[in-house]
Amino acid sequence: MTDARFMPCGPLRGELRPPADKSISHRAAILGAMATGRSQVRGYLDAADTRSTLAAARALGAEVSESAGEAGLDVEIVGAGLHGAADAVIDVGNAGTLLRILPGWLAGHPGGAWTLDGDESIGRRPVDRVAEPLRLMGAEVECAHGFLPPLRIRGAQLRAIDYELPVASAQVKSCLLLAGLLADGETVIAEPEPSRDHSERMLAAAGAPIELSERGIAIRATDRLEPLDHEIPGDFSSAAFALVAAALVPGSELVLRGVGVNPTRIGLIRVLERMGASIEPVAADEGAGEPVGDILVRHSSLTATEVVNTEVPSMIDELPLIGLAGAFAEGETLVSGAAELRHKESDRLAAVVDGLGGLGVEIEDHRDGFLVHGSGGLRGGWLDARGDHRLAMLGAVAGLASREGVTVHGIEAVAISYPAFEADLASVCG
Ligand code: S3P
Repeated sequence: MTDARFMPCGPLRGELRPPADKSISHRAAILGAMATGRSQVRGYLDAADTRSTLAAARALGAEVSESAGEAGLDVEIVGAGLHGAADAVIDVGNAGTLLRILPGWLAGHPGGAWTLDGDESIGRRPVDRVAEPLRLMGAEVECAHGFLPPLRIRGAQLRAIDYELPVASAQVKSCLLLAGLLADGETVIAEPEPSRDHSERMLAAAGAPIELSERGIAIRATDRLEPLDHEIPGDFSSAAFALVAAALVPGSELVLRGVGVNPTRIGLIRVLERMGASIEPVAADEGAGEPVGDILVRHSSLTATEVVNTEVPSMIDELPLIGLAGAFAEGETLVSGAAELRHKESDRLAAVVDGLGGLGVEIEDHRDGFLVHGSGGLRGGWLDARGDHRLAMLGAVAGLASREGVTVHGIEAVAISYPAFEADLASVCG
């Protein structure tokens, strides 16, 4: 493991283009593999997680070629076709999204057999949330101890279900939408709160029979998906680190370019604005079915807020940053309804509480969230990334805004979603 030290910096200025969206890249590779014909994906995320998805697409019989593009990879995928996934053992690496979405497609192949497994952290990520509904649809799905990977799938002719997700999850929803493409009848999926809708948008663009109904998202079987012609926007979840750094470091004024601003993803902006942050959309455009824009953020002083369960899905990966912003705000910042964070690349509730606590932040672990007592700043110290890319980046941003600096243990985890993170941050730090 590598340690990296992030010292207090001057104002963040200039502009930054975040790497391509991880969620959308995973989906583009999977739908490209499912489609009939040649898909073109420009600006695909060149990072460890999304490389796992390209490898999975190849293992399943898609032809994948890639070259360095202007932003990320330019990828061409000749799909295996909706009914054409080859039997395989798939290594998902660290990619929980791949682990949970892909089974939906595979489960609809009668007689097919697959095993999905990954790295050490994947071994702790529950998969019963997809195994259970896929069994209801008729597939045979086994997991270790009833809920953990490896996930073994035997495909079947699926039947449609009406399914209400117990917890909002774009991964589970997407898995069931893919299964619905191969099931007899109309599959309807309802969620307690809307999670990110990238799969719905991309499926509609690929000609899938998908629509919003009163009961939820409805999808029916089809023979083929049309190939994609997609440009992937910048990842708001990656941009969020520089955005919060600029909000916290006095004198900062930073423009984030080409960021995906899908409303199901940008809850962090809404919460930070409520805390008094200065964030302005500079331009927005509806490219390839996803809104994309530039965001201008300036430093300002913050006041505490309360993040409630209905807001959690739209900022699920950004909640650790609310812990950090809370430390700089005046008053007590409370996050609740976020128990899902215990099942991310690490137990992110424990990791945020221990991590920020170790840097001098007064923060309490609640069963389903945390409470931060704001003190206008933080001291600094040492933070263990626990192999989790978003914790490594949280530690780095905490360091820039701290009084004494932060050493991040295990900085290499950033390669999962944002390999150029350190260089990008250095390029805008004063
Ligand atoms: C993702 C959905 C989220 C998020 C993850 C990526 C996706 O998980 O935490 O990083 O691409 O669908 P859930 O919606 O399952 O909580």
